[in-house]
Amino acid sequence: MAHAQPFKALLLENVHPDADEALKAFGPIEVRRLSGSPGRDELEAALAEADVVGIRSRTQIDASLLDKAPDLKAIGCFCIGTNQVDLDAAAARGVPVFNAPFANTRSVAELTMASVIMLMRRIPEKMFAIQRGEWLKTADGANEVRKKKLGIVGYGNIGAQLSVIASALGMHVYYYDIEPKLAHGNARPMESLDALLSECDVVTLHVPATARTANLMTAERIAQMKPGAYLINQARGNLVDVDALAAALKSGHIAGAAVDVFPVEPKSKDERFESPLTECENVILTPHIGGSTAEAQQAIGTDAATKLAKYLYQGATNFAVNFPEVEPGPVGEGRTRLMVPHENRPGFLRRLNDLAERLGANVAAQFLQTEGELGFAIADLEGELPADLEDQVAALDGVIRARLVRARI
Ligand code: NAI
Repeated sequence: MAHAQPFKALLLENVHPDADEALKAFGPIEVRRLSGSPGRDELEAALAEADVVGIRSRTQIDASLLDKAPDLKAIGCFCIGTNQVDLDAAAARGVPVFNAPFANTRSVAELTMASVIMLMRRIPEKMFAIQRGEWLKTADGANEVRKKKLGIVGYGNIGAQLSVIASALGMHVYYYDIEPKLAHGNARPMESLDALLSECDVVTLHVPATARTANLMTAERIAQMKPGAYLINQARGNLVDVDALAAALKSGHIAGAAVDVFPVEPKSKDERFESPLTECENVILTPHIGGSTAEAQQAIGTDAATKLAKYLYQGATNFAVNFPEVEPGPVGEGRTRLMVPHENRPGFLRRLNDLAERLGANVAAQFLQTEGELGFAIADLEGELPADLEDQVAALDGVIRARLVRARI
């Protein structure tokens, strides 16, 4: 029968404390926290009692762990990446995986804006010099950002946010995106990347890593930039040919660069960082911390927790990374919501509705979405329902799992 509430959430790796409250926003949830990432045996035992688990990047969840956690209903990655979870294995077991990809948008946009200002004032060279005891007191090459042209490549969440901040500082904003994007304020879309490169004083990349963006900034493209322009990459390490960038920085064609992401990054604090860019003084190099702020951690905590809670109490899978997306809203008064991940084959809804009819239950609302081999159906039922309804649904051909939640009044 419907789940004996409250649900149980297991939170690992010190996810932000605000997650607890966000988890309870849709109904009671008991939260258990384990600091750090537990060893496999401890993890297995803790997962066996959890309805949902929240992890960060260190906890690996594979198929064999999932098999030992039959009650686990959803996984929240309280971070951006989801490589630490076997997404296909989770989907095949009817377990959606959520993350918080946009919680650090503002943090990156702020760092980019700060980098534009620091580069245009030629701060990196002056900082390196002053550390050596040299007093580079000069206005040469130093500019205000006002009325300068900022070229944003990729006008998505971060690019658009940056556009607003840069406009407020009086910059002329240009952007290029492969999708049609509505301009914020007076920002101007460019027809092509080439046009943007030859127009702007600062070019900043905010595109994802895709086959099309790999090595986007080749030596040729860097050469197309205006002499004395600046390049910023705080998106993904493989977008820029760093050897070509280092050469352009040394020749002076590029006056400065801010780089937060690299083709090869150390996996831990113990590994050394190596890059041809460390030979240059007109650079701001940072260790992939574009999105690393307390505010972003807090936003990740509430965002991922809200997605887990909404899935438990409503079956909402919007923004899940491995699941068809359904957002059915709250369960209506007097209704029982049936949630059924199933194999995406013809005839499933008919079988489900036939069963409801045989049981004398009225299907008051229904939602279905499919993606690849997986389907996710939700039916809101009214009427007297048998105590073994979950088992009867689970026995239908193609069902991966079945779960019921009653309206909360
Ligand atoms: P988003 O998905 O909201 O926006 C990306 C935009 O790039 C979209 O509008 C898309 O249409 C556009 N795009 C894709 N391919 C393109 C191409 N070939 N040319 C031009 N435009 C293209 O992504 P969001 O959240 O704005 O993130 C942007 C980048 O920032 C991503 O690479 C992300 O991984 C990176 N990032 C880096 C962080 C850091 O710590 N340094 C933290 C967070 C994000």
